[in-house]
Amino acid sequence: MLKAICMKTIDLYQPLGIDLQPYFGWNLEGDSKRQTAYEIRMAFSKAELDDGRLIWMSGKVISSSMRNIPCGRRMDSRERAWWQVRIYDEEDIAGPWSDPVSFEMGLLEKGDWTAKWITGDYTPEVRQKYPADEFRKIFTVPEGKVVSARLYMTACGCYETFLGGKRVGDFVLAPGTTSYDVRVQYQTYDVTKMVSAGENTWDITLGDGWFRGKMGAFGASCVYGDTTSVLGQLEIAMEDGTTLTVVTDDGFSWSNDGPVRFDDMKDGEDVDMNCEPSYYAKAKVSSYGGIVCASNNVPVTEHEHFTPKLILTPDGSQVLDFGQNLAGIIEFTVKGEKGQRLGLKFGEMLDENGNFTVRNLITEDTTPPHIPDYCDDTRFQSMNFICSGGRDHYKSRFTVYGFQYVKLTDWPQPVDPALFEAIAVYSDMDMLMEFSCSSEGVSRLVKNTLWSIKGNHLDVPTDCHTRERSAWLGDAQLFFETGCYFVDQAAFYRKWLRDIYDDQAPDGKVYNIVPHCADHSGMNAYVEGSSGWTDAGILIPYRYWKQYGELSALENNYEGMQKLASFMVSRMGDTSDPELDEKLPDSPWRKYIVTTGFHFGEWNEPDTDIMAVMAPKYEVATAYLAYSLSCMEKIALALDKQKDAEEYAALASKVKAAYCHYFVPEGGIKSDRMCEYVRPLALGMIMDPDTAGKAASDLNQLVIRRNYHVGTGFLSTPFLLPVLSQYGYHDTAYRMLLCEEYPSWLYEVNQGATTVWENWDGIASRNHYSNGAVCQWIFEYMCGIRMDAPGHYRIAPISSELLEDAHASYLSPYGKVSCGWKRDADGFTYTVGIPAGCSAELELPDGRSEELTAGSFSFHVSQA
Ligand code: BGC
Repeated sequence: MLKAICMKTIDLYQPLGIDLQPYFGWNLEGDSKRQTAYEIRMAFSKAELDDGRLIWMSGKVISSSMRNIPCGRRMDSRERAWWQVRIYDEEDIAGPWSDPVSFEMGLLEKGDWTAKWITGDYTPEVRQKYPADEFRKIFTVPEGKVVSARLYMTACGCYETFLGGKRVGDFVLAPGTTSYDVRVQYQTYDVTKMVSAGENTWDITLGDGWFRGKMGAFGASCVYGDTTSVLGQLEIAMEDGTTLTVVTDDGFSWSNDGPVRFDDMKDGEDVDMNCEPSYYAKAKVSSYGGIVCASNNVPVTEHEHFTPKLILTPDGSQVLDFGQNLAGIIEFTVKGEKGQRLGLKFGEMLDENGNFTVRNLITEDTTPPHIPDYCDDTRFQSMNFICSGGRDHYKSRFTVYGFQYVKLTDWPQPVDPALFEAIAVYSDMDMLMEFSCSSEGVSRLVKNTLWSIKGNHLDVPTDCHTRERSAWLGDAQLFFETGCYFVDQAAFYRKWLRDIYDDQAPDGKVYNIVPHCADHSGMNAYVEGSSGWTDAGILIPYRYWKQYGELSALENNYEGMQKLASFMVSRMGDTSDPELDEKLPDSPWRKYIVTTGFHFGEWNEPDTDIMAVMAPKYEVATAYLAYSLSCMEKIALALDKQKDAEEYAALASKVKAAYCHYFVPEGGIKSDRMCEYVRPLALGMIMDPDTAGKAASDLNQLVIRRNYHVGTGFLSTPFLLPVLSQYGYHDTAYRMLLCEEYPSWLYEVNQGATTVWENWDGIASRNHYSNGAVCQWIFEYMCGIRMDAPGHYRIAPISSELLEDAHASYLSPYGKVSCGWKRDADGFTYTVGIPAGCSAELELPDGRSEELTAGSFSFHVSQA
C-alpha cells in the first residue's frame, strides 16, 4: 500500500493567505511499487472532513502524477480548507487516507481591503534618511470569545508589528523585496491568540528596507521612493458571528523618536536605547499605485545561531570571530554608562596581518569619478549603539549583514563573547541534500556551497550579501540546477520569475538585476541585457518546468519569453563595428552572429584583466542566443505551439551553424581559454560528433597541461567537469576537483573558507554561490543521481580510485533518492535507494544496466 506524505499546497506546507488558486503535491511512503490513481477530498474543517461534509472530491483519478494537481473548487477570499488524499497502487489497492493538511486564501479582491496606506507626519527631503517610524493604535474588542483573527500586512519599507507588545510572526525584513513600483506582497498572520476582549494595542515600526535603503554596488539610496508607508488590516472573528476589522488609517498615532535612529540595508543601524516612542502626532493617509498581492513564498526567517570567540588583533582591536561567514543579524547584551556610544563593524575576513578589514568588499574611496552622483557614500555594514545605563539587549531589526567577524569599538571592558550571537537569516526553503565523501576538502566545499546558498537567498537570489546584495540574473541562471539539489526552490523561484517579468523592458530585454531600478546598480544602461544574464528569463522558467513539472511557469511567462527572444535575435548581424571585417570576415553566416550589446562574458576567469569585460563578446553572445532559441523550441513544444517551435528550431540551427563557421574552425578550436571549448560543447553548438569529440579531447589536454587548475569564470565553471565527464574524461574531472593549488575549488577551502568565494583568489566577495555550481557534478556524476523525468531517475555513479567513498541523498520533488559507493579490496560496492512510487535506470561503471523500482539496493563491481 502507499500513503501520501510531505503534502504541499502551491509548494508550501499549510500556507496562510495565498492568492493563487491552489494546486497540490505529495511524496509517497509504503511498500507498493507505483501510484496508479489518487483520490482527494476536501472540507472546510478537519471535523467536516471526518464527517464527510465535503466541499470537493476529485473522485478516483487514474494518474501517476504526484505534483501540480489542481484543486477542483474555486476558492474565495479568506476561505480555509483541509484536504487529504489516498493512493491506489499497481494492484489497484487503495492505501489509507493521508493526514489532513490545510491552506487558507488571502484577500483576493481589491475591495477586500478597507485599510489605508499610512505614512509618518513629515515630508521627507529627496534622498534623505530618517529614524524609523513608530505607529500605534489602541482599539477595543467587544466582550466575547475571539474565534479567529488574521492580520494582513505589507509596506513600502520594512515593518515589524506588535499586538499587546508581542512581535507578530517571525518574518525578518517583512514584506520582503519586489519591484515596489509594480507590486508589494503582503503577509498573513494568525493572531487569534494575540487579541482578546477589552483594550488592545497595535504597534508598527517601519524602517527603510529595500524601498528607501541603499542598494547595489555603489549604494544608491531611495531607489523606489523617499516616503515609506505601511498597510495593515486586522480581522477579528468573534464567537457570536460578528467580525471586527481594525485597519491602518489616520486613527494611528505616530512619532519617529523611538530607539531605531537610522536603518539601512547596506549601511546598518544606529540605535539609542534611551529613546522611547512618544506617538505625539498622527499618521498621514497616503496611497500606493501598484499591485498588492500575496507572496505565495516561503518566509525569510532566523536560522542557525553562532557564539563567537573574542580575538585581540595585532592592531589592538577587539574582534568577534563567529567561525562561519553568513548573512544575518547580531544579538547582544551590554551594560555601559548612560549615553555611552559603542560601535560594531561587520566584515568577512582578516588581512594578511590578522587585522579586521572590509577591503575585499568596498574600496577606500567610495566616490570615484565613474560613480554617478545619485549614488551615496556608504559607511557600510556598521552599527552605532548608545547605552541606556542599564543592561541593554538588542537584536538587529532592519538590516542584514554579511559577516564572519565583528570589530567592536569603545566596548565596555571586559568583553564577554558569550553575550553575543550571530543569527543566520534566509528564506525558509526545505533543505534537501546530504553528502559525505572521504575527501574532507570536497565535503567542506559542498557545505560551503550550502552556506553560500543560505547567505544569498533572502526573498530573491543575490550575488553576495555584502558589496551589492543584488539579484543578478546570470548568477541565478548558472546556479539554478545546482540549487535544486540543495533546497526546494519551487515557491521561491515562482515568486522571483514573476518579479523578472514584472520588470521586463519595453524592448523585451530582462534586466541584469531584478528587482530592477534604473539607478539600482549604479551602472549605465548600456550594460543591460548581457548574454548569460538576460537569458535567465528563458533558461530559468525552462529549467524550473523540467525540475518541478509546473507548466504554469512556461504558460505565465511565454509572452515575455517570446519578447525576450526577439530582443536577443535583434542583436544579430549589426555590421557597424569598423573592425568587423577583420574580426569576422564577411560570409553568408555573419548575419547570425550577435555583434551588438554589452556582455559580461566569463566574469572572474582566473588571471584575466578586469577590463577584458569591455571587449565585444561575439562568441559568448552567439552561443547563448542559439542555446536560448533551442530552449524556446522545447518550451513552445511543451505549450503545444508547433509553429513557434519550428521557427525557433530553424533559427537556432542557423545560429549554431554560424557559430561553428566562425568559432569552431576546421582542424579544431585553437584557444588557450577553457571556456572556448566548454561553452560550445555544453550548449550543444557542435553538431558533428567527431568535431565535438576533438574539442573535448583538446579541452582534456589543455586541463592536463594546466595541472588541473580551473581556467573558467562564472559562465563556464558549472559545465567544466560535466563536459569532461560526458566525453569520458572522468579522471581529469576528479583531478580538477581535487586540485589544491590556485586556482581551484579546494584552494579556498584550504585557506579556511566557510563559504564560496567570488574570485578564485578571494580578493573580492567571499560569499558568492556561483563557483559552487561544481556541486552539480558531484551529485550527478560522482554520486550519479539525476532525475530524468517526473518520478524517474538515472542512477549512474562514477567512482574513482582517488577517493575511498562518496554518498549523497537527495529529497527530490518525488521523494528521497540516494546513491553512494565505497572502495573495497577488489572493487567498489554501490548502494542505491529509490523512493516509493518511483523508478530508475541504473548504469554501473562496468556497463551493467538495470531498471529499478522503489527500494534499497546494493551492487558490487570488481576491478578488472
Ligand atoms: C556581481 C556578480 C555579477 C556581476 C556581473 C558582479 O559585481 O557580484 O555576481 O553577476 O557583477 O558580471
